[in-house]
Amino acid sequence: MIRKCLFPAAGYGTRFLPATKAMPKEMLPIVDKPLIQYGVEEAVSAGMKNICMVTGRGKRALADHFDTSYELEHQIKGSAKEAMLEEIRGLIDQCIFTYTRQIEMLGLGHAVLTGEALVGDEPFGVILADDLCINPGGDSVMQQMAKIYEEHNCCVVAIEEVPMEEIYKYGVIAGEKINDDLYRITDMVEKPSADEAPTNLAIIGRYILTPEIFDVIRNTPPGLGGEIQLTDALLHMAKEGKVLGYRFKGQRYDCGSLEGFVKATNAFYEMKT
Ligand code: G1P
Repeated sequence: MIRKCLFPAAGYGTRFLPATKAMPKEMLPIVDKPLIQYGVEEAVSAGMKNICMVTGRGKRALADHFDTSYELEHQIKGSAKEAMLEEIRGLIDQCIFTYTRQIEMLGLGHAVLTGEALVGDEPFGVILADDLCINPGGDSVMQQMAKIYEEHNCCVVAIEEVPMEEIYKYGVIAGEKINDDLYRITDMVEKPSADEAPTNLAIIGRYILTPEIFDVIRNTPPGLGGEIQLTDALLHMAKEGKVLGYRFKGQRYDCGSLEGFVKATNAFYEMKT
């Protein structure tokens, strides 16, 4: 059973300025719940109750969200509004939250490496909260991935087919098909142009990583944009046959873009009413 889930949450969220000037992008709500809470709920659904967050300057609201707010709770005690805090209280009761700061923004690989102090020497999930994933009526995406890990005991990366004209936004994989939903990855490229992309199978922000990744990242030179890319580190492991690509069941909303954020808002509002 995987116990820990890492949330890289140090990014600036510049696409949402001015909303993210003084507020972490992970606190932006889809209807009435911040993105990070959806992510933590997904981790918990997969049995990952040790929540490890890599935050940064200006991100204190994340830790405050997963803490009691005595004044507020006192204020609404006995009113119907109390019910609105039930879910977040449930998470606070069940989970252990640990935090560390990424001092410099040197890329996703670097953010994951920063999380080593929280994760230690065990396999762990990774959720990028701005990829909001749902699978109504079925296992959550992280739950599906945990099952794949239990079967194969190696790194697992969530993948999805995307239109070729959008491939430049993603890490892209190529691999040998194990079955309809599973590939043994042989190649990975971070944000290639449509010409350079080996396939249209894009990496989505859900990973299960083995602790071997930390040493690999330490030895991974800066890649695209001068950043230490998780994709490059995973390619190193893929060459040893240690990374699977899993085509998950469910729907993903790219809440890191305005368009995806609005789509998710509309879809979640529909589901709620
Ligand atoms: C990151 C990864 C990329 C992946 C994407 C999924 O990029 O580097 O490989 O496809 O997340 O959302 P970012 O979107 O943080 O630039």
